[in-house]
Amino acid sequence: MEPTPAGAARVAGRAVLRSLAQTEPHGSGWYCPSLELDPTIGARRMDKDMTETERLRTLDRQHVWHPYTPTDDYLKATPLVIDHGEGVYLVDSDGNRYLDAGSSLGVNIHGHQRRELNDAIVAQATKIAHTTLYGMTHPGAAELAARLVHLAPEGIERVLFLESGSSAVETAMKMAFSYWVFKGEPQRNKFVSMTGAFHGDTVGALSVGQMTILKNFYQPLLRETSAFAQPYAYRCGLCNNNCSLACADTLEEVLEREGHEIAAVLVEPRVQNVSGMVVARDGHLARVAEIARKHGVLLIADELGTGFGRTGPMFACEADGVKPDILCVGKGLTGGYMPLAATMATGEVFDAFRGDGKMLLSGHTYSGNPMAVAVALASLDLFEKDDVIAHGRELAVVLADELAKFREIPHVGDIRQCGMLAAIELVQDEETREPFPWDLGVATRITARCRELGMIIHSAPSDTIVIVPPLAMTEDHVRQMMGILHQATSEVVASLSDA
Ligand SMILES: Cc1ncc(COP(=O)(O)O)c(C=O)c1O
Repeated sequence: MEPTPAGAARVAGRAVLRSLAQTEPHGSGWYCPSLELDPTIGARRMDKDMTETERLRTLDRQHVWHPYTPTDDYLKATPLVIDHGEGVYLVDSDGNRYLDAGSSLGVNIHGHQRRELNDAIVAQATKIAHTTLYGMTHPGAAELAARLVHLAPEGIERVLFLESGSSAVETAMKMAFSYWVFKGEPQRNKFVSMTGAFHGDTVGALSVGQMTILKNFYQPLLRETSAFAQPYAYRCGLCNNNCSLACADTLEEVLEREGHEIAAVLVEPRVQNVSGMVVARDGHLARVAEIARKHGVLLIADELGTGFGRTGPMFACEADGVKPDILCVGKGLTGGYMPLAATMATGEVFDAFRGDGKMLLSGHTYSGNPMAVAVALASLDLFEKDDVIAHGRELAVVLADELAKFREIPHVGDIRQCGMLAAIELVQDEETREPFPWDLGVATRITARCRELGMIIHSAPSDTIVIVPPLAMTEDHVRQMMGILHQATSEVVASLSDA
């Protein structure tokens, strides 16, 4: 049955999520049952003989609501209690160590507990923890904005600070809309983004996201947006394995039809993160930018997942030489230490907000928090001191070497890599590329086995394991990470044929 928003609203629960997930073109790895259920740990009562870890788990089960986590499965499971970090490891409350192969959701760059970053926060705390950027400034904000402009693609001149990627994207949308209002074209209030796109989790950001499960479930709350084809070579029906960037050209069709109403095109440059590290080939972003320019719409580059060296250069836009009008960054901006994001814009965009009392009607209480800004500055210092960009490029070669070994594992369908972002997509049938049945939870089983083997890694909604390691890893760490993943994948795949 094709799920409808009305149907979704009537029937709450797994059945809805499950049916929505199945409308993903290739299954789902998100809403699978947890495979670590421990029915004995359902206690709601505090017991004086509990260990400290059990006490924390009980409090957590009683009071914490976890994002993107199936409720009942979690309440029955034995959650990890991460106590602290040490370099590229996470350490739980029982002292067990886990390699942080997901960089704690793509944020950690220099490792956990970097002395320089800790020191920056402490030093700032002795001055002031928070002050506002509404109508005034502070030293860190001025310094950081200047350094980000220096690092950003040519043309970017202004930085507006926020606290999350979703709010950076939503601010970019408001910025683009306001730009057109001030330019005398207020009818330009729509956005175009790529199929499979994820641009954040707030209602505005969800509107420009194109992941089917989120779109279908929240549709009654969302603004109408248009989509053009994602550069998903493994499942591309457009070019018959002879890529002519026909996916990017579908943007032209949308803009020819609706261009006069479009404020901006949003794109995750080079790699779509959350939908499973879908890697665009060289030239894709340049083609998208060219089409956007030709139709006179703004280009918003969402570098939440790709910024700060993840794909090779500091920002993924650099690889194709693309100069966006608006650039969203966050995640690795503070090295994973504090929530900080930024929406950056060209002088051309900024200038539309000048004169006649004009302003950007947008901003948050904690925008540009000085502690977050201080650690971001210290993180940029570490980029220079540790030569993180060069180191990341060296690690990417090792990662490519390790990824090649996954070809020997049955059911490995596609292997994707761009710099230090990578993914392994598993399929039921390598010939037809048919996905596994949703209920099998293959990717979830692999990430669960990795955890048993001492590594935290995540999956995307396509039975895809996503690899987002801290750039502070050594070559040995990369080999260790991929060794654990190889073992877990081989074991889970073997268990499928045994079953
Ligand atoms: C490309 C992209 N944009 C936006 C976001 C939202 O960022 P946040 O979770 O900080 O709101 C994400 C998060 O994963 C992302 O990958």
